[in-house]
Amino acid sequence: MALPASMKCIEILDPGPTAALVPAERPLPTIGPGEVLIRVAAAGVNRPDVIQRQGMYPPPPGASDIPGLEVAGTVAAVGQAVNGMAVGQSVCALVTGGGYAEYCAAAAELCLPYPAGYDAVRAAALPETFFTVWYNVFQRAGLKAGESFLVHGGTSGIGTAAIQLAKAFGARVFTTAGSDEKCRACRDLGADCAINYKTQDFVQVIAEQTGGRGVDVILDMVGGDYLPRNIKSLAADGRHVSIAFLSGPKADVNFLPVMLKRLTLTGSTLRPQPVAAKSAIADDLKARVWPLLDQGRMAPAIFATFPLDRADDAHRLMESSTHIGKIILTLDRI
Ligand SMILES: NC(=O)c1ccc[n+]([C@@H]2O[C@H](COP(=O)([O-])OP(=O)(O)OC[C@H]3O[C@@H](n4cnc5c(N)ncnc54)[C@H](OP(=O)(O)O)[C@@H]3O)[C@@H](O)[C@H]2O)c1
Repeated sequence: MALPASMKCIEILDPGPTAALVPAERPLPTIGPGEVLIRVAAAGVNRPDVIQRQGMYPPPPGASDIPGLEVAGTVAAVGQAVNGMAVGQSVCALVTGGGYAEYCAAAAELCLPYPAGYDAVRAAALPETFFTVWYNVFQRAGLKAGESFLVHGGTSGIGTAAIQLAKAFGARVFTTAGSDEKCRACRDLGADCAINYKTQDFVQVIAEQTGGRGVDVILDMVGGDYLPRNIKSLAADGRHVSIAFLSGPKADVNFLPVMLKRLTLTGSTLRPQPVAAKSAIADDLKARVWPLLDQGRMAPAIFATFPLDRADDAHRLMESSTHIGKIILTLDRI
C-alpha cells in the first residue's frame, strides 16, 4: 500500500500542563538502515512522557520530539540491512520517541512479535515496562528464584510488570501502593505482600514478614527519603536499583549499612542506551518472557484506552495516579 505524505501526531508545543499536547500534521518519519516504519495501531503512555511534556525529560540526541516510547502496529516499510521482517507483519516496538503518531520509525532489533492472541492495545502495553523491568531487576540486580523482591509503586505500569515477572521467575514479591484497592490489585497480579504505604510503614512490615532479614532486591522509583528506608529493608548482599525519583533525586544515605550488608546500589535509564544494548534485552525477552506471555502466564494490566487526539486526557489520568496498570492511546484501525 502506498504511504501517505503526512501523518497525524501529537506534538508538545510549549512544555507544561496537558494543554501542551496538541494534534498536528507532520511528514512521515524517514527510516535509516536497520530500521522499519510502523503503521501505529496503539501506543503506550508512560510516566516519562508526562515528564517530557512538563519539559523535564528532553529526548536524547537523534530521537523524535514527538512523545511516545512504545508502539504496536504493522510494518509499513523496511529499511536497508533489515533481515527477517516484512511489510504487513504485526510488531510491538521500543522506540526513543515518536509513538504518539500514525507512523513511527523503530530499530528492527527492538521489534518483538505480538504474543499469541494479542491485539495492538495489549501488545503496545509491553515494550517500555518489560524492557525496563527485565534489564533492571534481572540483568542488573540479578534477581533469582527463591529470592525476595520489593517494587514500590506496584500499580504503576512498571510495578504491574515487575510483580508478574518477579513472581513468574520464582521470587517472593513485596510491593507498596497508595490505597487498599491498589494493594488488592497488586495481590491479584501475584504479589505475596502488598503494603498500603499511607497506612503502614513498609520497613516495619518487611522486617516482620522476613523475620528481620530483609529483601534481596528492591526496584525503586520514589527516591528521596525512600533511599535510607530501602537500605534498612535490604538483606545482606542485597541489590537496590533506582529507575526514577518521583519524590526527588537527592537522599541522605548512611553508608555504614551499605558496607556492613555489602549492598549494591545501582540504577539506569533505558531511553538513551544504544540500540545494541537494548537489542540484548530484546533477545532475552524473546527467549525467556515472550513464551510466558504466549501461554497467558502473565499479561499486561490495561486500565484505560484513549483515542490519540485525547492524549491530554490520558496524561491527566496518569497524573491523577488513580490508574492501575497501563494507559494506551489507540489509532482508529486496531
Ligand atoms: N529508568 C528507566 O529506564 C525508566 C523507564 C520507564 C519508567 N521509569 C520510571 O518509572 C516510574 C513508573 O513509570 P510508569 O510509567 O509505570 O508510571 P505510572 O504508571 O504513572 O505510575 C506511577 C505510580 O507511582 C506511584 N507514586 C509513588 N510516589 C509517587 C509520587 N511522589 N508522585 C507520583 N506518583 C507516585 C503512584 O501510585 P500510588 O498511588 O501507589 O502512589 C503512581 O500511580 C516513573 O517514575 C518513570 O519515570 C523509568
